[in-house]
Amino acid sequence: KSKLVLRDGTSLDDLIMRESNEVSLRVMTDEELYKLEMEKIFAKTWLLLGHESEIPEAGDFIVRDMAEDNVIVARGQDGDVHVSLNVCPHRGMRVCLGEAGNKRVHQCIYHGWAFRPNGDFIGAPVEREKMHGNDVDKKTLGLKKARVHLYGGLIFATWNVDGPSFDEYLGDIKYYMDQLFCRTNRGLELLGPPQRFTLPCNWKVPGEQSGSDGFHTLTLHRSLMEGGVMGGTAETIYDQAPGMYGVDVSCEQGHSLRCLEAEKTFKMFADVPFEGKSTRERLELLTPPGITKDMIPELFENLTEDQVAQLATIPPQVGGMFPNILIAFIFAPRTDGGSSGALSLHAYVPKGPDKVEFVNYLFAEKDAPEQMKRDMLQNSIWNTGTSGVIEQDDADVWPVIMKNARGAVSKDMTLKYQALHGHERPEGWVGEGLLYPGFTKDDTQWNWWLAYYDLMDAV
Ligand code: FES
Ligand code: FE
Repeated sequence: KSKLVLRDGTSLDDLIMRESNEVSLRVMTDEELYKLEMEKIFAKTWLLLGHESEIPEAGDFIVRDMAEDNVIVARGQDGDVHVSLNVCPHRGMRVCLGEAGNKRVHQCIYHGWAFRPNGDFIGAPVEREKMHGNDVDKKTLGLKKARVHLYGGLIFATWNVDGPSFDEYLGDIKYYMDQLFCRTNRGLELLGPPQRFTLPCNWKVPGEQSGSDGFHTLTLHRSLMEGGVMGGTAETIYDQAPGMYGVDVSCEQGHSLRCLEAEKTFKMFADVPFEGKSTRERLELLTPPGITKDMIPELFENLTEDQVAQLATIPPQVGGMFPNILIAFIFAPRTDGGSSGALSLHAYVPKGPDKVEFVNYLFAEKDAPEQMKRDMLQNSIWNTGTSGVIEQDDADVWPVIMKNARGAVSKDMTLKYQALHGHERPEGWVGEGLLYPGFTKDDTQWNWWLAYYDLMDAV
């Protein structure tokens, strides 16, 4: 039985129904629940804030949001990345009013308190002579600091200083994520500042979709498959589309990735002779998006042989990191012979019960040739960007679900996650995690809600 009971007597069990695998639409609008989510999820889990390539030099900073908490992400004189709450401890003004830049000192415009990029208090005007004097310990006057972890150069932070390490938080999904984010010697770089737009929906509408909802592709993105944008053709779109089959990987932390067979996707466009080929030969035939032939040896240096073998045959392509990240590593060729290669991350940042900021990060390997970076950027913008053809489909649906969540009757409708087949290890599979082979189904998204339940119910 859940410990969490809202003021009107509704318990978490009334909202997330673990017996029947349903979720009440009320979860999308309830304000009390939203406030609890901010404390129990967004102040507790690791959140994505950007990439270290955005702030290469000491003093470089970007300003981002950890849900509704605004933070300064800055590189200190020590070379490390620091994340500090952008709230002046004096009277609560925002200390840094810019979005990005380089500063040795961040000074609050209200009364002039000054802070280092790492959040430490430096001083205030006439502080020693006429204000605090020596009575107050300066260490107590700094900005509130978050715990930071860099993963493949991605900047993650959490307010949960004593909570799980980042690796513990990632759990079994790390093996698969490493194949996307930690595969070359110099790693990834962000292609320009992230794109952003705001949508009128609760963060959990796109959030639960990022729990590897492969099924919606068949219908919502059908026109893109018909047009060959998403690696399908008019003849094969229905349930034969290769993007619908693979191995969905998930874990109890709520993260998931859909691993899709590269060979099947490519076979639709050209006869790719995979039979009897080694991993290296397969990689040369496919060259995963963003990887040039020259970079292939680096894959073997940075990943295990099993990880590279997976990348060459059934690479992780789309999924999410709980609570609010979508991962899209688009591998599909286009019917015009080009590649739809893109690597992007979306962060769905809550801005109130009915508002979400969609922050889209676009990547390429640092060592990729300039032309390839331009192609990746273009592909990402066309496909998974804020105005991309894929995201326009999704952004069409989410606000409508939200409207439905408000009706006196419709608010009590339940979302059904009953296409559950249970996990099963395919023969010869090497990585860990909960594995769901075959046609995509509801299991990974239901795991997303179970992770949500656990965090919300924790005391
Ligand atoms: Fe920042 Fe007073 S609020 S110096
Ligand atoms: Fe979609």
